[in-house]
Amino acid sequence: MATALPVPLRGLVRLLLLVCVTPWAECGKVLVVPMEGSHWLSMKDVVRKLHARGHQAVVLAPEANLHITREDFFTLKTYETLYTQEEYNRFLVNHFQYIFENEHYLKTFFKSIAILKKASAMYETSSVRLVRNSSLISQLNSSSFNVVLTDPVYPCGAILAKYLRIPAVYFLRYIPCGFDFEGTQCPNPSSYIPQVLTTYSDHMTFLQRVKNMLYPLALKYHCYITFAPYPRIASELFKTAVSIVDILNHGSVWLFRGDFVFDYPRPIMPNMVFIGGINCISRKPLSQVCCGAFFQLSKRKRGLKYMDLEL
Ligand SMILES: *[C@@H]1O[C@H](CO)[C@@H](O)[C@H](O)[C@H]1NC(C)=O
Ligand SMILES: *[C@@H]1O[C@H](CO)[C@@H](O)[C@H](O)[C@H]1NC(C)=O
Repeated sequence: MATALPVPLRGLVRLLLLVCVTPWAECGKVLVVPMEGSHWLSMKDVVRKLHARGHQAVVLAPEANLHITREDFFTLKTYETLYTQEEYNRFLVNHFQYIFENEHYLKTFFKSIAILKKASAMYETSSVRLVRNSSLISQLNSSSFNVVLTDPVYPCGAILAKYLRIPAVYFLRYIPCGFDFEGTQCPNPSSYIPQVLTTYSDHMTFLQRVKNMLYPLALKYHCYITFAPYPRIASELFKTAVSIVDILNHGSVWLFRGDFVFDYPRPIMPNMVFIGGINCISRKPLSQVCCGAFFQLSKRKRGLKYMDLEL
């Protein structure tokens, strides 16, 4: 057909084709697998920016979730959960009340472990439903995404990226038990790097160094509860034994929502980027009521610093 066109018209058609194709060639398709709740809030700003720069984003979220709602700057795709939104809301309201109760720290500790177990089991069922949904997986596979943007605290996104062989960018504040060090093969000399919650600096006495080495043991159980399901899910999917570190080291770039203003110096790898300021994009002044309640609470609770780290 093209040969039938006069020469100037053929040139025009080529130019039009070029104009149509060029902007798309520069735009990417991003699959976003967020962790819900507060984790999503700063990731949402990144997705908005990606959209503004002409990229297409598909956000893959559990049907029942906290904070992930439809927006005009991304396509929301949901996967099934075994619980309804009402049941999930009830779970959150009923179980996280304990944060505001003034109880013995041991009681609070056991309560938080019990809740963590329940929440982990819920996330596990959703994750299993996602990876076993072959029609959804093949639909995602045929969408030819260029990159997966995910929060590795919910490792389902990393598993999916590895399975679909799509490069992954991790977006996180922190991941416990040194998984960020292991996942990036970053040196982690415990004589110089204070563990979270120890409040030590990079200059420690001998005893502090010993404590710094022992401290992570307390977090191991926490990690066992929250991360143990994912090697199981991945091993079933890949039909070979896969560890949490195997899953995490699929990440090409790790974007840390941290900054050395808050954190002590530590070794970093070339694929770790610190983007702490991103948490301040959507800033609002705190209300008096909120500040009052917060200070009351922090006077009572030493554990708050840890919660702060996880958010
Ligand atoms: C797979 O996911 C789609 C989209 O979320 C859903 O409509 C469908 O019911 C799911 N299928 C199975 C077998 O879970
Ligand atoms: C994705 O699609 C490619 C090409 O069609 C295929 O070779 C591959 O097996 C698919 N992967 C999955 C996980 O379905």
